[in-house]
Amino acid sequence: MNIGIDICLGIPDHLAELEQLYAEAFPSENLMPLVAKLLAEKDIVLSLAARSDGELLGHALFTICGIAGQSDDTKMEVALLGPVAVAEATQRQGIGRALIRAGLQRLAANGIVQIFVLGDPGYYGRFGFRVDDRIATPFPIPGQWRAAWQSMCLQQRQALPPGTLTVPTPWRDPSLWS
Ligand SMILES: CC(C)(COP(=O)(O)OP(=O)(O)OC[C@H]1O[C@@H](n2cnc3c(N)ncnc32)[C@H](O)[C@@H]1OP(=O)(O)O)[C@@H](O)C(=O)NCCC(=O)NCCS
Repeated sequence: MNIGIDICLGIPDHLAELEQLYAEAFPSENLMPLVAKLLAEKDIVLSLAARSDGELLGHALFTICGIAGQSDDTKMEVALLGPVAVAEATQRQGIGRALIRAGLQRLAANGIVQIFVLGDPGYYGRFGFRVDDRIATPFPIPGQWRAAWQSMCLQQRQALPPGTLTVPTPWRDPSLWS
């Protein structure tokens, strides 16, 4: 990493700085409605912000999810990673990596068994994510995105039985998956 950053837990005080960050990182889509709804789900969302001298340079969200059909006895918590945004001027300097690693560590320490992501395998593969063909996405994804649906285990345990990811309300929008 070339710049000193602090990774802090919690929701940035001002949504305006998040709006600016997400608009820069995703110029062709508006993820703020999703981000704002996720931030309101404080009990099931991990929000990490990267700052340098107080300036917001990156943000990552992790949502606790489940697998459809699990009984209470066998219930295991899993998580979904995303979105992740890094300010354009400071991309490719390790900020995204630091945010993701910090989140994975926290989730693993809290017993989350597996984490999923829909994203570029060229990037997420670096963290150990691999294509997942056992757990289905909550909504259909385009066929050409199959390789983008990935997961990694966070605990030493057997793989989850086949199933479907269940997501909380903010993620229950088919357009987010297509
Ligand atoms: C993708 C993103 C989160 C990565 O964070 P970052 O801080 O810029 O990247 P890092 O420093 O962690 O990683 C840099 C490395 O990953 C590679 N990389 C970055 N984005 C990549 C991508 N989309 N696909 C493949 N590799 C990528 C870089 O080439 C670099 O490789 P190197 O170390 O061999 O030079 C950030 O660039 C970003 O916000 N991009 C726009 C929004 C986005 O696509 N978000 C992710 C989807 S939710």
